[in-house]
Amino acid sequence: MTIHFIGAGPGAADLITLRGRDLIAACPVCLYAGSLVPEALLSHCPPGARIVNTAPLSLDEIVAEFRAAHDAGLDVARLHSGDLSVWSAMGEQLRRLRAEDIPFDITPGVPAVSAAAAALEAELTLPGVAQSLVLTRTSGRASTMPPGETLENFAATGATLAIHLSVHVLDEVVARLMPAYGPDCPVAVVWRASWPDQKILRATLSTVLEATGGERGRTALILVGPALNAEEFDESRLYAGDYDRRFRPVGADPRFPEGHE
Ligand SMILES: C[S@@+](CC[C@H](N)C(=O)[O-])C[C@H]1O[C@@H](n2cnc3c(N)ncnc32)[C@H](O)[C@@H]1O
Repeated sequence: MTIHFIGAGPGAADLITLRGRDLIAACPVCLYAGSLVPEALLSHCPPGARIVNTAPLSLDEIVAEFRAAHDAGLDVARLHSGDLSVWSAMGEQLRRLRAEDIPFDITPGVPAVSAAAAALEAELTLPGVAQSLVLTRTSGRASTMPPGETLENFAATGATLAIHLSVHVLDEVVARLMPAYGPDCPVAVVWRASWPDQKILRATLSTVLEATGGERGRTALILVGPALNAEEFDESRLYAGDYDRRFRPVGADPRFPEGHE
């Protein structure tokens, strides 16, 4: 018996891994984390499966579901939106499972930031423009931010920022980023990336508040940084014709001659 934590992806029902889909189909119990997990994924559950939306449950109640399945010898598919490594509340569930000696495993999923970048047709790390991507958020009622993890600190690096759980405080986000990035810095807001009602807005720090027209529907990512609409950037050396590399040795005296391991 195992609790299978599965990243359910950003919204489109076919943006789940084959492993995740097959595990859902094999588990007689499925716990899913509310409205961000597409209902269509639940159609993979076997007939007669116990299917529970955990949005209204406390951690104790969720653990009670795990324990009951464990005692009955039933495998559980535990679905969270996107990937499990960020803002999934998986950490606290794993701690309880370790304490109770209940076996689990983890299957990653496509995170919202990847779906948003795909919607924008954007590479978020362009050579010479931005080589770091910061996944962050602003303080919420349930989670305060550690003191060093401020938008101002991240902005000082010039990296691309993917700001989660924050579209409702877009005004504050803009005010805090403006000093470091400046008014012309590109911003994109992507609501419900990969869902049928996905919506994209491209603007700059100085225009984004007016451009959104007050729309603050919560499931959105705010992406900020010069990589978002840079046309001027260096080509990566990796594919340069004269770049000597193991898989494409170049020149009279290549560093990686053919056959060299
Ligand atoms: C609780 S976090 C979950 C993040 C998720 N574990 C992941 O890997 O992306 C929820 C936040 O992620 C972002 N988000 C999740 N799905 C999204 C989507 N399809 N489009 C845009 N943003 C999304 C929003 O900022 C939302 O407030």
